[in-house]
Amino acid sequence: MSFYAILLALHNLNRWLVLLTGVWAVIQSISGLNGKRPFTPAERRPVSMFMGTLHLQVVLGLLLFAYMGMQKIPVFAGAGRSSFQWEHLGLGVLAAVFGTLASTQSRKAGSEVGKYRAAALWSGLALLMILGAMPWFRPLLPHF
Ligand code: HEM
Repeated sequence: MSFYAILLALHNLNRWLVLLTGVWAVIQSISGLNGKRPFTPAERRPVSMFMGTLHLQVVLGLLLFAYMGMQKIPVFAGAGRSSFQWEHLGLGVLAAVFGTLASTQSRKAGSEVGKYRAAALWSGLALLMILGAMPWFRPLLPHF
């Protein structure tokens, strides 16, 4: 198995962790907007996990990009438009920035409901960027 195939398989699989933790973070944050619950470490968990999986995804993506460049393997050759690789990279990085803001801004907010609001807003925006960046024309699971 080539280094490219290993990196691509990890990037493919981690995409599901990104999506699962993202949906979990958004649902959890929205459910606290009525102000009836404090924002405890248990509520923070999906937000932190979402940020962690996003950071890992960006690192794997950058490694893939660099390795494919060195090996002269075309990136997203079957995408239909050559700009897709840059849309994928840009939206992916933006998603990680928003996912980080979900974590930091929900820590800084002055009230409990403010913490939920920050987590819901930034996690939601990160999830939208991810849905836009996703290459749905590629395999849903890696081929081993
Ligand atoms: C953060 C959200 C991201 C998600 C959900 C995501 C998801 C994916 C998926 C599902 C694939 C296809 C895997 C396969 O064919 O098995 C892929 C490929 C790829 N991604 Fe990402 N990615 C993200 C961010 C990034 C970033 C930030 C970069 C770059 C620097 C990047 C670079 C790449 C590259 C180079 C490929 C391989 C393209 C090819 O094989 O032709 N990704 N990504």
